[in-house]
Amino acid sequence: MIQAFIFDLDGVITDTAHFHYLAWKELGAKIGIEIDEDFNETLKGISRMESLERILKFGNKENYFTDEEKEKMAIEKNNYYVSLIENITPKDVLPGIENLLNEIRNNNIKIGLASASKNAVMVLKNLELIDYFDFIADAAICKNSKPAPDIFLMAAEGLNVNPLNCIGIEDASAGIEAINLSNMYSVGVGEKNILYEAKFIVDCTDKLDFKELVDKFKI
Ligand code: BG6
Ligand code: MG
Repeated sequence: MIQAFIFDLDGVITDTAHFHYLAWKELGAKIGIEIDEDFNETLKGISRMESLERILKFGNKENYFTDEEKEKMAIEKNNYYVSLIENITPKDVLPGIENLLNEIRNNNIKIGLASASKNAVMVLKNLELIDYFDFIADAAICKNSKPAPDIFLMAAEGLNVNPLNCIGIEDASAGIEAINLSNMYSVGVGEKNILYEAKFIVDCTDKLDFKELVDKFKI
């Protein structure tokens, strides 16, 4: 029996994945590292500091900067990112998501958030979706970031449900791995060649049909 749906945020509920990309691209340009969409794919679901480390490695600059300089760069990226998300509104909720949240709630199933983003609460408030969530796992206190299962397990614990009775929804391959490791049923939103480890994949959010997900989970 399904006890909870646990959502990723960026790229599933709203297209903030694109804003993360723009913000890293801007920072990358300042330090002479060009980031393209393919490389950006490997940053999805990855925490802020670890994303920066990956970018520096990608540009062969992993030993160029002190920890203090890296902290400053991460703050700079975040400031730019926050300036991009400040103006998001309920219009930026991806198609089908609010409908799905309503169906889940009407069926008395819990709703949780397992995002790596420390800006998650602000984004959900701007989207006016925060009241749908019974529990929001706090990325700031999560030890191991995706692909580790920790944030999904934290969400299940906060909701007081068994991970085996949860559906996790993700747009990142690191996120799908995290869901699978947490023993939840993994649903991917995006391309099959990226999310092939998911138990079920749809190509866009408006194909996330409540009844179909429940049926797939039962099989
Ligand atoms: C994830 C995004 O949801 O959150 C990553 O997919 C991002 O791209 C991570 O780096 C951390 O977000 P924030 O807002 O804490 O920098
Ligand atoms: Mg995501």
